[in-house]
Amino acid sequence: MTDETPSYSGPERVFSGVQPTGNLHLGNYLGALVKFVRLQDTHDCIFCVVDQHAITVDLNHGPGALMDQTRQIAAAFLAAGVDPDKAIVFAQSSVRAHSELTWYFNCVARMGWLERMTQFKEKAGKDKERASVGIFDYPVLQAADILVYKATHVPVGEDQKQHLELSRDIADRFNREFDAPGFFPLPEPLIQGPGARIMSLKDGFKKMSKSDPSDLSRINLTDDADTMARKIKKAKTDPEPLPATVDELQDRVEARNLVGIYAALAGKTDQDVLDEFGGQGFGAFKPALSEVVVESLAPVTQSYKDWLADPAAIDAVLAKGAEKADEIAAPVIAEVRDIIGFWRKS
Ligand code: TYM
Repeated sequence: MTDETPSYSGPERVFSGVQPTGNLHLGNYLGALVKFVRLQDTHDCIFCVVDQHAITVDLNHGPGALMDQTRQIAAAFLAAGVDPDKAIVFAQSSVRAHSELTWYFNCVARMGWLERMTQFKEKAGKDKERASVGIFDYPVLQAADILVYKATHVPVGEDQKQHLELSRDIADRFNREFDAPGFFPLPEPLIQGPGARIMSLKDGFKKMSKSDPSDLSRINLTDDADTMARKIKKAKTDPEPLPATVDELQDRVEARNLVGIYAALAGKTDQDVLDEFGGQGFGAFKPALSEVVVESLAPVTQSYKDWLADPAAIDAVLAKGAEKADEIAAPVIAEVRDIIGFWRKS
């Protein structure tokens, strides 16, 4: 791109999505939901339950199950503090422009770009021949999610960094191929800050994940206080006491993760936590960590249960959100059709 190429000059807008697959955990909460709540006060925000992404792995969730999971994720957004009067909350499948833009982006994205996606390699496993085309195309749908709203900022955990880079590549290539400089913004990931990469409680080299077979590896937003405390008690650590400085944590992945969780929830830095607990063993630190985790998550867990007890209220939020999202996406997709040059009734 030359310096003279006009760049996007539209308004700032935030978009992010969460898949309705399994329980949300502390990683989703700190890596995404907490950021959503913070951003809704300063930006136009759109938060989406990406139910079309959820069928790339498990096609048949059972009768009504996908819809229930979608409601559960919407309930988790609301319980974490997303305010539907400030931010748009909706289900991806209710705005058809996502699928339409995905097709156009399929023709913009290159096979080589998608083949490099590490999440595809992880999810498809060894037997790529049997993976769905949808799981391969997953990041293109993600790019369409973001760009159909011309979103400029995307709060996500670190695991989504590569997908965001792909979204930027697709936006840039679309703008150039169709001679529409600055039409799509090049969306920026908002990853920094505590909680961007919460690791498994059982293995400090693996991220905390919904798909880990061991439930002890993660704190679920649905866990009760005793379960949370038990999981922290059983979390893997090393025999050394906590050090005095962050540098000394570098090679102690499990200790670093627990200190990071404490810091993120208490609104402190890792160094603040070490100033308080340096020199102490995990016998002292783990109970303090349990207290912070339980205290921070208890109101969220309670509100989550309250929302789930009222599915009609969740549906009302999703219906209003779908309408507002569609209002933003419809003119963008109309313009895309014109830019590409499809026939339209004059
Ligand atoms: P998903 O549903 O796997 O995760 C939702 C959000 O949680 C973050 N996250 C974590 N953050 C910190 N530590 C962890 N251990 C951890 N695990 C998950 C994820 O980074 C994410 O922000 N592809 C996306 C969904 C998506 C999307 C989008 C996101 C679809 N379209 C458009 C942004 C914009 C995903 O699978 O997230």
